[in-house]
Amino acid sequence: DNPVIVAIDGPSGTGKSSTSKAVAAKLGLSYLDTGAQYRAITWWMLANGIDVDDPAAVADCAGKPSIVSGTDPLDPQISVDGVDVTTPIRSQQVTAAVSAVSAVPQVRARMVETQRAAAATAAAGIVVEGRDIGTTVLPDATAKIFLTASAEVRAARRSTELKGAVSLAATQEALIRRDAADSGRKTSPLAKADDAIEVDTSELTLDQVVDRVVALVEERR
Ligand code: C5P
Repeated sequence: DNPVIVAIDGPSGTGKSSTSKAVAAKLGLSYLDTGAQYRAITWWMLANGIDVDDPAAVADCAGKPSIVSGTDPLDPQISVDGVDVTTPIRSQQVTAAVSAVSAVPQVRARMVETQRAAAATAAAGIVVEGRDIGTTVLPDATAKIFLTASAEVRAARRSTELKGAVSLAATQEALIRRDAADSGRKTSPLAKADDAIEVDTSELTLDQVVDRVVALVEERR
């Protein structure tokens, strides 16, 4: 059997992470959260006082931090220069800065390289989630899924994750701003691949989305 490569893309709050982890666990595959990698390099930039709104400054040190991503869907950890940053990369500061950092081509180039290496070395196969996996990182993936959901549903989900620390309106606004930045950037923007299957998760439970994606993968393996 060839290793199974599953690409799961889509905007924020569509259930990509929950779905990807569950699908990987069910199918016995590795799991890679590429958003966590962009968050990790952003965390390092902020910790080192780099002006994230200065693309030249970001590009200059894009190669400096060493990022190691775990691929266990039940316990995905990520570290930067040996420091476990699994929790701090979810902070609001990182979330607000990540789109600017991830738009820098030198940042993307090194991330894409590690993402392809992870896919090439996953023995059974891997579920890779992100924004440009089906279009750019792994265009030959076994199955490509593009998750969507209404802006209201996405904001409500994110707000639940943040445990009500931020208002729903502010969450929705931040989400829309981040998606616009991710979709509008020059280098591999958030986009649905022509051969990706779109799944609207607005009215589905997580279990329903997982079952649908597993079925789509089984059809293609
Ligand atoms: O998925 P998550 O919300 O954690 O991703 C954080 C950010 O990382 C996205 O808003 C986007 O700017 C960037 N990203 C990207 N390409 C990917 C995955 C994430 O540019 N493949």
